[in-house]
Amino acid sequence: MCGIVGYIGLKDAREILLNGLEKMEYRGYDSAGLAMRNADGVHVFKEKGRIADLRRVVDESVQATTGIGHTRWATHGAPSRENAHPHQSVSGRFTLVHNGVIENYEQLKREYLLDVPLKSDTDTEVIVQLIELFANEGLDTEAAFRKTLQLLKGSYALALLDREQAETIFAAKNKSPLLVGLGEDFNVVASDAMAMIQVTDQFVELMDKEVVIVTKEKVIIQNLAGEEMKRAPYTAELDAGDIEKGTYPHYMLKEIDEQPLVMRKIIQAYQNDQEQLTVDQSIVQAVNAADRLYIIACGTSYHAGLVGKKYLEAIANIPTEVHVASEFVYDMPLLSKKPLFIFISQSGETADSRAVLVKVKELGYQALTITNVQGSTLSREADYTLLLHAGPEIAVASTKAYTAQISVLAILAGAVAESRGLKLPFSLTQELGIVANAMEVLCDAKEEFEQMARDYLATTRNCFFIGRALDYYVSLESALKLKEISYIQAEGFAGGELKHGTIALIEEGTPVIALATQESVNLNIRGNVKEVAARGANTCVISMKGLESEDDRYVIPAVHELLTPLVSIIPMQLIAYYAALHRNCDVDKPRNLAKSVTVE
Ligand code: G6P
Repeated sequence: MCGIVGYIGLKDAREILLNGLEKMEYRGYDSAGLAMRNADGVHVFKEKGRIADLRRVVDESVQATTGIGHTRWATHGAPSRENAHPHQSVSGRFTLVHNGVIENYEQLKREYLLDVPLKSDTDTEVIVQLIELFANEGLDTEAAFRKTLQLLKGSYALALLDREQAETIFAAKNKSPLLVGLGEDFNVVASDAMAMIQVTDQFVELMDKEVVIVTKEKVIIQNLAGEEMKRAPYTAELDAGDIEKGTYPHYMLKEIDEQPLVMRKIIQAYQNDQEQLTVDQSIVQAVNAADRLYIIACGTSYHAGLVGKKYLEAIANIPTEVHVASEFVYDMPLLSKKPLFIFISQSGETADSRAVLVKVKELGYQALTITNVQGSTLSREADYTLLLHAGPEIAVASTKAYTAQISVLAILAGAVAESRGLKLPFSLTQELGIVANAMEVLCDAKEEFEQMARDYLATTRNCFFIGRALDYYVSLESALKLKEISYIQAEGFAGGELKHGTIALIEEGTPVIALATQESVNLNIRGNVKEVAARGANTCVISMKGLESEDDRYVIPAVHELLTPLVSIIPMQLIAYYAALHRNCDVDKPRNLAKSVTVE
């Protein structure tokens, strides 16, 4: 949700900042802006829309070696040029970009800024005006910045320019992510290492409530009391190539195609010397010490969690609940005596999930994070981490992270089962290998799924996905994919539940896409398909080899019954992709969404 960048060095900042913003566009893309500082002062350019729109308004004749930039996902105030960042103080001395939400900004406005004419509807402008107010009262910039930060309630990653202190970027963070990148004769700040991987792979993490003073030679990290903090840099293991689209028209298609490879990477990463899939024994022990597991997640990760619950119960014999983070945090169920919390988050930054993590840590419980991003907030703050090894996922609609999450949950369940002497009736290594091969077959069948998107979704207003048992969970994710990127109203439904009300929505031609990969309910789901077909639905069955019927539209290669979600989702991802494409939707950056949702 919003991304910030800053550069200070010897080179021209404009391209470095614009490239960085492009790499972070997944974080928000309703407006963008940048500020560049040179001998003539601070030059601000902002525009509604994408970074490409911002590029058009940036004056290329402005040369500067210091600058900050922002890409926005609106929270306070509509997406507009006025509300786009950077925001400036009344006199223009201070210029600020912000990612996060200031919860007490109205109160701060009333208390301190009644006489200040604000130009935007944002919470951010309050911060920059406060800094100027305190500077006008005689504080130096550092002190004015720190005093302001002490008043803020909420989340922020900030980068600040002071017209009168040209050689410095002031930055700070609380709850929102922020990294400092180190270079020779330059330093940078960014919400995500991806934004600056083209210029450096050396990064320093900032902790909450830290301030950092960045010049081209030096980076000084301080706490809010002004005490200096020492921290060693780490090398970001990001391949610049991983974040390029290459020959693909969209990141989403590239990421769908990467799933077989990711599967093989996961097998490699979690294999021990005996070629068995396992996880760190401290994690196995933590799971074994729990009497109940609570999976907490949002969106696609929540849907992966539903499949994970099945694995942890069926394979490892541990009662497991799955909860949507934004509900759990305010409406916590009665907990068991020894709970263990498992956070699933591609980005590791989702604010709703983090709010739960903060709460359960306060209650003294242990937490495991399953994430794609090493060093992300949820990973740092949990007791244990399992990584997805999926490589950067850039399209907003999650694909390869979902299958990676399910695979890691299967490996976790298998490792725990093993430790409990519960022998798996199959080799997970071998079965995941079979999954990787089946994924490849599906990725090669794009034309079939493109045709299905044409046949079922070309003009429809709505669509139903139905399934039973594990297929039901995949139906939920299939509907989310379609909604996110094609804006077709879609619902995932348990096949047997449709008749208890929702079947009233079925009319002539309503598309109903059914999954039939589960032997135990194969006849039941086919009965449900008949029920809707009898009411005029345009039905489509995707089944699995061994369970197929004559009229099935597509038969996916056979994999172990528990692992079907890893393959059955691929046709659904591709159908959603082509449906969005046919409707001229912006596949990688759907309206109103963002990849990393760092506001609650
Ligand atoms: C946003 C994204 C979804 C994602 C969800 C959870 O809503 O648009 O694609 O599934 O956040 O993200 P996380 O990074 O926690 O998995």
